[in-house]
Amino acid sequence: MNIKELTEFDKKHIWHPYSSSPGLIDNLVVNSAEGVNLVLEDNRVLIDAMSSWWSVIHGYNHPELNRALENQVKKTAHVMFGGLTHKPAIELMNLLLSIVPKGLEKVFYCDSGSVAVEVAMKMALQYWFSQGLKTKNKFVTIRKGYHGDTWHAMSVCDPVTGMHSIFHERLSIQFFLPSPKSDYHQEFDDEDIQKVEEFLKAENDKIAAFILEPIVQGAGGMRFYHPEYLVAVRNLCSKYNVLMIADEIATGFGRTGKMFACEHADIVPDIMCLGKAITGGYMSFAATMCTDEIARGISESKPGIFMHGPTFMGNPLACSVALASIRLLLESNWKENVMMIETQLKKGLTGLKNNKKVKDVRVLGAIGVVEMKDPVDMTLIQNEFISMGVWVRPFGKLIYTMPPYVISKFELLKIASAFNVVINQLV
Ligand SMILES: Cc1ncc(COP(=O)(O)O)c(C=O)c1O
Repeated sequence: MNIKELTEFDKKHIWHPYSSSPGLIDNLVVNSAEGVNLVLEDNRVLIDAMSSWWSVIHGYNHPELNRALENQVKKTAHVMFGGLTHKPAIELMNLLLSIVPKGLEKVFYCDSGSVAVEVAMKMALQYWFSQGLKTKNKFVTIRKGYHGDTWHAMSVCDPVTGMHSIFHERLSIQFFLPSPKSDYHQEFDDEDIQKVEEFLKAENDKIAAFILEPIVQGAGGMRFYHPEYLVAVRNLCSKYNVLMIADEIATGFGRTGKMFACEHADIVPDIMCLGKAITGGYMSFAATMCTDEIARGISESKPGIFMHGPTFMGNPLACSVALASIRLLLESNWKENVMMIETQLKKGLTGLKNNKKVKDVRVLGAIGVVEMKDPVDMTLIQNEFISMGVWVRPFGKLIYTMPPYVISKFELLKIASAFNVVINQLV
């Protein structure tokens, strides 16, 4: 098939994220990818300013990650995890234990971020069930959050920007608190936390867990909130006997300048979800970690087992590449790289604050966000960026970048320059 035929076939038969079928746009056909670049079938080269949705932190076609997969595939691509185990799963957990907040001692390997959230929510419910507190079966979260597209994950996504309006009658009813007003870089406003305390004081007998994305609210609005808020949520959850679930799927593995965003507040959640960058973006894989107390609660009372066990749990290829990716991260100068990206994005994007159509420009770690006053036309903007050799995927009012950590200053300049040209020429 030539490029036109490939595109037409794709459009006609294959669903893409949040799209219709047949599709309305021509998806670009990627032939290969190398470092920070996507190479298209027609030989155009685009800098991936998205790290394939936060995941490709070391860049594409990395020799060490390739080697990890090649070595493992010669041994075994997959074995069931029920009754069998293997070194990659064990070594991966051994490494995770050395980097996650102290106290998270158990891991459940999952297939994707959304499943990791489902597993976390099930753990919380089963824990309270085991304690004889069956009424603690709802979840509280904050507005503008995003936790995935599966059923319960969807129920804790922002009720306005999430999919509640389509599925609301079938979704579990959860509780939504206002998104914290206190910005990461500003003074903390105590009012943010008063609402949390009032709520937990009144409703804690119904609440299994408080689930939230630590520090960075990603797909629900790309906001950075104050670490004091996270500290207060942790303290109030302990005070009112509510579990705390930190969804680090987007923020984990260095994206915000800390290995995990929970470190900005120096807190340990009861349950933590990891995904996306865990495999360096090589394949779908995730992990739900919990404390010994949660695991004992679930395991020491009837039915004495955790009720989840997917076919591809602990897949050896995924564990091997995750192990290699985390080793690579630890051996690299990731902190300096992320700080360099932060500095360059601040330098390159801050001037856009002077544009009348721009509401805000914010940067944290390797995340740069330009929030417009009005929603943007995604396809139009994307095409402008493509003509400047940069791949982005804006949504709503947000045009943002979170590049691979291996990106150079020169490539960051190219991204920043594309942001300036494209946004300043918007009419
Ligand atoms: C914070 C957060 N949680 C969960 C998910 C869902 O992960 P996945 O797309 O791997 O199911 C995402 C994906 O963007 C996310 O950003």
